[in-house]
Amino acid sequence: MIELGGKVYECAPPHSVLEALTAQGEAIPSGCRAGVCQSCLMRCLKGTPPAKSQEGLKTSLVQQGYFLACRCYPESDLTVALGDGPGLRQSAIVVRREMLNRDILALYLRPEAPFAYRPGQFLRLHKEANLSRCYSLASVPEFEDTLELHVRRIPDGRVSGWVHDTLAVGETVEIGDSTGHCFYVPERQDHPVLLLGTGSGLAPLYGIVRDALAQGHHGPVWLYHGSYALEGLYRQAALQELARRYPNFHYVPCVDQTGAAAEALGARTGTVLGALVADHGGFSKARVFLCGNPDMVKDARLKIFLGGASMADIFADPFLPSGS
Ligand SMILES: Cc1cc2nc3c(=O)[nH]c(=O)nc-3n(C[C@H](O)[C@H](O)[C@H](O)COP(=O)(O)OP(=O)(O)OC[C@H]3O[C@@H](n4cnc5c(N)ncnc54)[C@H](O)[C@@H]3O)c2cc1C
Ligand code: FES
Repeated sequence: MIELGGKVYECAPPHSVLEALTAQGEAIPSGCRAGVCQSCLMRCLKGTPPAKSQEGLKTSLVQQGYFLACRCYPESDLTVALGDGPGLRQSAIVVRREMLNRDILALYLRPEAPFAYRPGQFLRLHKEANLSRCYSLASVPEFEDTLELHVRRIPDGRVSGWVHDTLAVGETVEIGDSTGHCFYVPERQDHPVLLLGTGSGLAPLYGIVRDALAQGHHGPVWLYHGSYALEGLYRQAALQELARRYPNFHYVPCVDQTGAAAEALGARTGTVLGALVADHGGFSKARVFLCGNPDMVKDARLKIFLGGASMADIFADPFLPSGS
């Protein structure tokens, strides 16, 4: 049994707490339903949530009894509360907006209190109560004092549409804590680092790659950024400049088109995964970061694992749509 707000609900296998509460009429915020986005964060007031439902949460949250409802298959009765309260958020001011291409906007935020993060992690941007979305951090705290997010406009998107059309410089927004495992750790610095992203999936990779190079990674670093069309790419000049500065860094834009403009950029024709496989014989020593289109992330994860990479060295953030 699950108790929420004084009401008792049944929750039996094979249903998660999220499924059980939602099926019985409770409006629980949710997103990926896969333990990634942390939209379904809840707090256990009585009882013990299974360890699996707390995987990936910060120690401080685990200690306070927070858990992910979509990952929680209770082994005993629990009394729970909605988890994403104001205490887990802070304010930030919109200091700049910049269109990176036709669909992707860079949003620069200055948090009102210190905000700890690593480039490539993500935060939740709140539009209103119970309406928030995850966006990855492209900025590097050692270089930039604002948080940089790349928000792609989704047709009829409630949050991305608001960011593109309404949210103005000078406004204050609420953001959640930084979270996620997609970030560079300075170890095995002579081994390859491979980064694959599509569309705004470049955001975390742009942060990770600059962080890795700044932290002295001297093994080969390959960044593949893909888009259907040349106009969908962005930050080409900055990445080409980075490749000039660091001989171990290789920037590989990939598009479906051919033509003079694509040739001038040195863009490859086809998918990021196709280009990666063509360039590398195997992945046994590689650390890999995959971000953006969920199908690309899924295919690449399998291919790279079968090519010899350890699952523990594959870090992925599929940009899964939200459920609410
Ligand atoms: C870990 C994580 C990190 C993310 N980082 C980023 C990021 O850095 N930049 C970024 O732009 N997005 C990112 N996303 C996606 C983002 O969180 C939102 O899902 C996205 O902005 C759409 O939200 P919305 O409210 O605008 O659209 P919604 O109102 O949620 O959706 C509107 C409609 O569009 C559909 N839809 C939603 N997403 C897509 C999609 N990708 N393609 C096609 N149809 C879709 C929905 O099913 C719905 O029918 C990330 C997601 C996750 C889980
Ligand atoms: S982590 Fe539970 S819905 Fe995304």
